[in-house]
Amino acid sequence: MKRTKPRLAVLISGTGSNMEAIAAACRSGLLDAEIAVVISDNPNAAGLSRARKMRIETVACPYKRGIPRGENEIPIIEEIRGRDVDWIVLAGYMKILTSDFVRTFPGRVVNIHPSLLPAFPGAHAIRDALDAGADFTGVTIHIVDELVDHGPIIAQEEVVILPGDTEETLASRIHAVEHKLYPRTLQELIHEDI
Ligand code: GAR
Repeated sequence: MKRTKPRLAVLISGTGSNMEAIAAACRSGLLDAEIAVVISDNPNAAGLSRARKMRIETVACPYKRGIPRGENEIPIIEEIRGRDVDWIVLAGYMKILTSDFVRTFPGRVVNIHPSLLPAFPGAHAIRDALDAGADFTGVTIHIVDELVDHGPIIAQEEVVILPGDTEETLASRIHAVEHKLYPRTLQELIHEDI
């Protein structure tokens, strides 16, 4: 069968609001691509139900503690390979990928991170920016390399931290930026405008 659109595998661990924004952009035509599959290391991720409601195929590859990270990635790699995927889009995927995973799909894994990298890497970027007393933080979209929260940056947008901001209020403004920036940046990346 002839395929018409670039195919994405979206990896999530939680809520999946970025996945939903990407799926909506694929449907509206803002993003000329299709989500081939949504994969989660967490079988209870709310994002899996959100994807199913949008009639997107989902796969849970439950993370098993006590075995090497690389072994946990084998089923994920197989799911991706079986679907003729062009780009792997991390959207709140909270497991650190091994070098082997990154080398399996060189230059084809994209991540979104809720800070202006290299500031505030890690799993608690929003809280860390607040704790540091920063005046602003933001959103970064980058190609994933073999280091954590690292690799060529393809888009960044600043978000001002307001007096009295809590983790919740700041996260909600960061998410609003992410939901616009991720689909737009993917469109430019996939169609080689970056
Ligand atoms: C997003 O804010 C994303 O930037 C962040 O997780 C959130 C997922 O939200 N990712 C990281 O912190 C990666 N280090 P979502 O599940 O609602 O899309």
